[in-house]
Amino acid sequence: MEKVDKVEVLISEEQLEKRVREIAEAINEDFQGKEILLVGILKGAVIFMADIARRLSLPVTMDFMAVSSYGSATKSSGAVQIIKDIEMSIEGKNVIVVEDIVDSGLTLKYLLENLWARGPEDVKTCVLLDKPEARQVEVPIDYKGFEIPNQFAVGYGLDYDQKYRNLPYVGVLDSL
Ligand code: IMP
Ligand code: MG
Repeated sequence: MEKVDKVEVLISEEQLEKRVREIAEAINEDFQGKEILLVGILKGAVIFMADIARRLSLPVTMDFMAVSSYGSATKSSGAVQIIKDIEMSIEGKNVIVVEDIVDSGLTLKYLLENLWARGPEDVKTCVLLDKPEARQVEVPIDYKGFEIPNQFAVGYGLDYDQKYRNLPYVGVLDSL
């Protein structure tokens, strides 16, 4: 018989919607009169970024990057490889990197160093979930959705084995 994983709700749709609205309002205020480029990190940030973007009242462009980190399934080694790069130049631009989750911090640290080297005006970070207990390197999180305990989260873009990204809430798997 096929085993069905049960997902326990950690952050509800209503909580997500409220926080997304608050973050978008903060970005609208902080970047008044400016244009911003949202750089979403595939695939986990897609749903969060789509929801944030629709609430921004600034001139917005969007691009995406995909990275993979070497290491085991649960431990990242810190060596990050760009699988897909953004298509536009970020020179002189106000960039906001949108990530699904910061765990060890190694992925975001690499991304920030990489993007800063391209001569942008500014690079800020917007992260849905933060697992502070798992942090190995400090990274700045300018706009943060929620802090969560050191558990494996799925839904609202986050996957386990490429599944559960479509859940409208953030949950944890019973079986993990
Ligand atoms: P870091 O480099 O250790 O901060 O790892 C960040 C990346 O690992 C995220 O962008 C996710 O793709 C993945 N990740 C870390 N924790 C989780 C989780 O709880 N659920 C799903 N993906 C996770
Ligand atoms: Mg990711």
